Amino acid sequence: MKKSVMITGINGLLGQNIVREFSKDHDIYGLDLTPSIFGPSQNIQVKQIDLNDTIALEQYIKKVQPDSIVHTAAYTNVDRAEDDHEIALAVNGKVPAEIANICKHLDIPLVHISTDYVFSGDAGPYRETDDRDARGKYAESKLAGEKAVLESGAKVAVIRPNVMYGNGKALKSSFVEWLVTELRNERSVRIVDDQYNNPTYARRLAYVIRMILENNAWDIWHFGSKEVVSRYTFALKIADTFGLSSSLINAISTVDLNQRAPRPLRSGLICEKLNKELGIPILRIDEELALLKEEMNVA
Ligand SMILES: NC(=O)c1ccc[n+]([C@@H]2O[C@H](COP(=O)([O-])OP(=O)(O)OC[C@H]3O[C@@H](n4cnc5c(N)ncnc54)[C@H](OP(=O)(O)O)[C@@H]3O)[C@@H](O)[C@H]2O)c1
Repeated sequence: MKKSVMITGINGLLGQNIVREFSKDHDIYGLDLTPSIFGPSQNIQVKQIDLNDTIALEQYIKKVQPDSIVHTAAYTNVDRAEDDHEIALAVNGKVPAEIANICKHLDIPLVHISTDYVFSGDAGPYRETDDRDARGKYAESKLAGEKAVLESGAKVAVIRPNVMYGNGKALKSSFVEWLVTELRNERSVRIVDDQYNNPTYARRLAYVIRMILENNAWDIWHFGSKEVVSRYTFALKIADTFGLSSSLINAISTVDLNQRAPRPLRSGLICEKLNKELGIPILRIDEELALLKEEMNVA
């Protein structure tokens, strides 16, 4: 019999990429706030639900009894979370705790998506075992969720990605798509050159999730690209991959943006463990961008 997976936040960037990875051999049960972005399909069912409604959530999980759950849904607006901190804490802290609790009682394995924001961002790149020190309300709420699932006693894998990019339909924001559009239209852009990380390509993260589930790898995992670069350097690499001139990309500092929430300046995730223990290759940024270009079907 076909296996099934439940994906929260199915309409989001990572959710869509997990669907692509799993729909070939799984029945998919998706949950999201907004109506399904997937057309009619025999094996993709999407239920519109606010995950804060824990009674409806529990009833649905009990009804479906999926073989695993991947929890990607989150309150992801880092700046707005500074004002909406109770809403962010409910979605990013309490909902994961509830899902993990249900998973424990029904013996369903859970993959929980966390973030590099659980670290201070002062001295990256970080290993899975490094001390956590969240800065800002979004970061604190995600740390609360991560701690709750790890302490739940369920079969849990926590994956921490960095700045995520990839392809998808009707995405709220896509850095690569935005940059490519701006450069194609010959508009100049300002990109920070003092925030360092190793960006995570969503399509490969979806594959990593499959490998973790197939290997029953209940642990904490970091996943990003091979090299840690500034956002400015990342933008130059995008321009190069898509054959666009980088002359319109201007370097600025994070302070110039005057953002509400603090940003990690020296972040990045060491991904050796995933490579050593699960044999997953960690690719260079230009290799992953080439895959994205192919995926986006750009000549
Ligand atoms: N994107 C990044 O750069 C990044 C980096 C590190 C870690 N992460 C983590 O990776 C995960 C996936 O990120 P993503 O970029 O794929 O996020 P995304 O594109 O914003 O997708 C999240 C989805 O969850 C939905 N959602 C939010 N609150 C919900 C609720 N209460 N009930 C049901 N659905 C809800 C969202 O709906 P609405 O759009 O209507 O709100 C959205 O469709 C998140 O846990 C995030 O914290 C992301």
